[in-house]
Amino acid sequence: MISANDFIPSKYTHSVEEGNFQWSAPSNIALVKYWGKKDNQIPANPSVSFTLNNCKTITKLAFAKKQNDGTFSFDLLFEGQPKEDFKPKIQKFLERIEIYLPFLKDYHFTIDTENTFPHSSGIASSASGMAALAMNLMSIEKALYPEMTEEYFYQKASLLARLGSGSACRSVKGSVVVWGNHTNISGSSDLFGVEFPNAIHANFKNFQDTILLVDKGEKKVSSTVGHDLMHNHPFAERRFAQAHENLDQLITIFESGDLEEFIKIVESEALTLHAMMMTSMPYFILMKPNTLEIINAIWKFRNETKIPVCFTLDAGANVHVLYPENVAKTVLQFIKNELVGYCQNGQYICDEIGNGAMLI
Ligand code: DP6
Repeated sequence: MISANDFIPSKYTHSVEEGNFQWSAPSNIALVKYWGKKDNQIPANPSVSFTLNNCKTITKLAFAKKQNDGTFSFDLLFEGQPKEDFKPKIQKFLERIEIYLPFLKDYHFTIDTENTFPHSSGIASSASGMAALAMNLMSIEKALYPEMTEEYFYQKASLLARLGSGSACRSVKGSVVVWGNHTNISGSSDLFGVEFPNAIHANFKNFQDTILLVDKGEKKVSSTVGHDLMHNHPFAERRFAQAHENLDQLITIFESGDLEEFIKIVESEALTLHAMMMTSMPYFILMKPNTLEIINAIWKFRNETKIPVCFTLDAGANVHVLYPENVAKTVLQFIKNELVGYCQNGQYICDEIGNGAMLI
């Protein structure tokens, strides 16, 4: 079995004075949710997500050799402007991954980053942001050690991204990505995300995700705090076991294309995630009244039309509306007619399943 130590390099064969890379990495939406973790960003249960296509972070990383004085040196720009408040998170990230990238203190970095989705839309940019940064860092390592395999490159990029933010490890490669050990998914690992290895039915091709922006405010409780509250949570063990069971069912559903069963798992996972929040101590609620209005409207529409549209939620009030491509026109019309009124400033984002990070 692969261990984290396998990603500690023993030597580099090349030296590089300076250069720059630019990668984009997408956001992703979990179907089976990651909620609860052990030390070193090891997930308490396996999760699976659709990679998105349009919501992404684009990060340019410039690097230049400096004297290794035992400190990290970097400038951080967001949309071209210095962004001091992002720096502590990056500093912590660099500290966590230094053991895997021993060259980090040999360079000064300029990190220049932007998102394709609106600023403070309530869409978490940590997944796409950490993934994009991890890809760039791996491009540097590849320049220092061109002999590395493609498999090593992507596994390590995902491992590094995970150390920045857990869900970021699912934003590296592939359109359906599993993170976390699962008995029946070969190659699955707690250390990094892997492309779902089994058959996927054509019903899921170009699957649509329209993100309804219900509340763009800063979250009252961060994901990191929420994950922590799964320690000593009264339902934790049962929940973790359920995630394994749901993933098992999804293996069958992905193959058969059974959308009715898909909907049951996905909506149940979303509500279970929020049920965990409501039953933590301290307890909290991230849904807003309009989140529930939207859920009820989707249920009514589905009941009346039999169109296989469903919802999922992240750790926030926004609603992801998921549906197959062949009903996109009707569902989009329904969203415009009946759901947009529940969105803050009528805002929503049309996205669909994508393929992962890209070198620009
Ligand atoms: C609800 O990946 O944001 O979106 O590892 O602490 O950075 P950290 O947490 P994060 O948690 C996201 C949880 C979730 C579900 C999911 O994406 O699986």
